[in-house]
Amino acid sequence: MPAGRCIVIPLTLGATTESEMRIILLGAPGSGKGTQAQRLMADHGFPQVSTGDLLRGAVAAGTPMGLRAKAAMDAGELVTDDIVLGIIRDRLAEPDAAGGFILDGFPRNIAQAESLGELLDDIGQPLDAALLIDVDSDVLMKRLTGRRTCSVTGKVLNVYFSPQSEIDECLGAGGELLQRDDDNEETISNRLKVYSEQTAPLIEHYSQASLLSRVDGSGSVDEVYARVGSALGL
Ligand code: AP5
Repeated sequence: MPAGRCIVIPLTLGATTESEMRIILLGAPGSGKGTQAQRLMADHGFPQVSTGDLLRGAVAAGTPMGLRAKAAMDAGELVTDDIVLGIIRDRLAEPDAAGGFILDGFPRNIAQAESLGELLDDIGQPLDAALLIDVDSDVLMKRLTGRRTCSVTGKVLNVYFSPQSEIDECLGAGGELLQRDDDNEETISNRLKVYSEQTAPLIEHYSQASLLSRVDGSGSVDEVYARVGSALGL
């Protein structure tokens, strides 16, 4: 969607208080889900639950699950639902998730969305919103090839788009700018294909459940964050 054509639908939170919000962030690879989730977590305290981060942690730790997940991640394919659902069940059972959470990168297909619905019904924690961050596909490749993570702070940065002051802050603290293994052009192309085939149908799924809200994900991180806040009524 081009800049300026953002649809913002403020949510009615009903009995759910801000500190209890349960949100899904939807969007293509590179749309800014992780970046916006980090800001929401810092400002509002909702824990960011990123299946990508949890899987990368398992790969780095060399756990059996990480070893099973690695080949799919390196190829830009989805990791099997049984692995991902196990991770989500364990993570949402942790105490900090009892008062709300931001799901970043999960669910990724209709089967995962249905399993999530059953899990949240079981634990009596209904979703408040599925927020789609909408970005033109031609921007995504540059965002992904330019992405770096600060080895000291864990902050997600970008060699093309981050202010020099943020890059310097990382380097000044003795950090390195780390690039993800799957942020190469070939794997990114497959991740974008997998997104349009398997994940994009969730837009209709959550629209039919009257949970979908959309924001324009173009422009600066601050501009997108302001739209996210309005859409969530924060
Ligand atoms: P995952 O880690 O979830 O990756 P992804 O969905 O491909 O999403 P990204 O992390 O690439 O993008 P993002 O939207 O978070 O963008 P970001 O904020 O970093 O998944 C990786 C792999 O794990 C998958 O391929 C799969 O194998 C597996 N996996 C994970 N979950 C799974 C599941 N549920 N089921 C099965 N398999 C699963 O931003 C990107 C860059 O852009 C950054 O450099 C950032 O600084 C920059 N940026 C952000 N916003 C802006 C802006 N407004 N302006 C300029 N630059 C910006």
